[in-house]
Amino acid sequence: MQYFVDSAALCRFHQGRSTSKSLLGRIEEDHHDRTGKAGKIYTRKEEEPVTALSDISLSLPSAGLIFILGKSGSGKTTLLNLLGGLDSLSSGEMLFEGKSLRGFKPADYDVYRSSKVGFVFQDYSLLPQLDVAANIGISLELAGLDADPKRIEKALASVDLQHCTHAWGNELSGGQKQRVAIARALVKDPEVILADEPTGALDQENGTAVFQLLKRLSADRLVVIVSHDEEAAKTYADRIITLRDGKVVNGQELHPSPLFRQSPFRPPAAIRASFP
Ligand SMILES: Nc1ncnc2c1ncn2[C@@H]1O[C@H](COP(=O)(O)OP(=O)(O)O)[C@@H](O)[C@H]1O
Ligand SMILES: [Mg+2]
Repeated sequence: MQYFVDSAALCRFHQGRSTSKSLLGRIEEDHHDRTGKAGKIYTRKEEEPVTALSDISLSLPSAGLIFILGKSGSGKTTLLNLLGGLDSLSSGEMLFEGKSLRGFKPADYDVYRSSKVGFVFQDYSLLPQLDVAANIGISLELAGLDADPKRIEKALASVDLQHCTHAWGNELSGGQKQRVAIARALVKDPEVILADEPTGALDQENGTAVFQLLKRLSADRLVVIVSHDEEAAKTYADRIITLRDGKVVNGQELHPSPLFRQSPFRPPAAIRASFP
């Protein structure tokens, strides 16, 4: 399944060569299925390997809002973690801005995670002992940057929380905490924001505010949301990728932005991958 055929996808997965230099070569060799195809396979001692993803081929553009839908256990988090460099492929290859992550060492993944992607989790993952500004500052420091107050204020203004710089976690509502988490992802100006069930702990009103915010941010960067909320996906997504049993069953584009139509002026897309 190939959604975009341009050679400049932001991120792309595809079937790669299996070489002994491959990060996951050992797993590929051990756990190829009978067709010689594999995707993301989890192996644990004394347990049956779990194929979390297989037969996947995707190219993601450099901006826009993508929803990943699917039942529990269908592989959504695995896909998001692969995109975010929290996990690595068992076979195939992921290209980011045209460069393969194959052969990435742990330190390379650290750099990738801290500079290219911003994560947003269902439980916000804020540090309770720090105020809002310090929580956001950590994200800059992890990326090797100064915790510049102006930059932090700008990120907070982008999520409409400019008045909350020195608030503590217990002074914020769930919706506000999630917006702080989005500011923390945004402050380092990453190419991609990855959100795993970002509204899962929020009521409808706060959930809608978070989706609207992520939609707004997707105007000039790629935002990928894992969600169960089909209605929200239909409302906000430029494209919905549906997973079933670790396979993409649908990757329809709903509101293709003129920027992403086949055109010589399309901006470079960031992520391409396939793991057949
Ligand atoms: N670290 C892991 N070790 C072993 N199996 C895992 C691990 N993470 C996920 N899985 C399995 O991979 C499949 C996909 O999981 P996941 O990506 O978390 O699905 P979803 O996010 O759609 O609920 C499930 O069968 C799950 O049990
Ligand atoms: Mg999940």
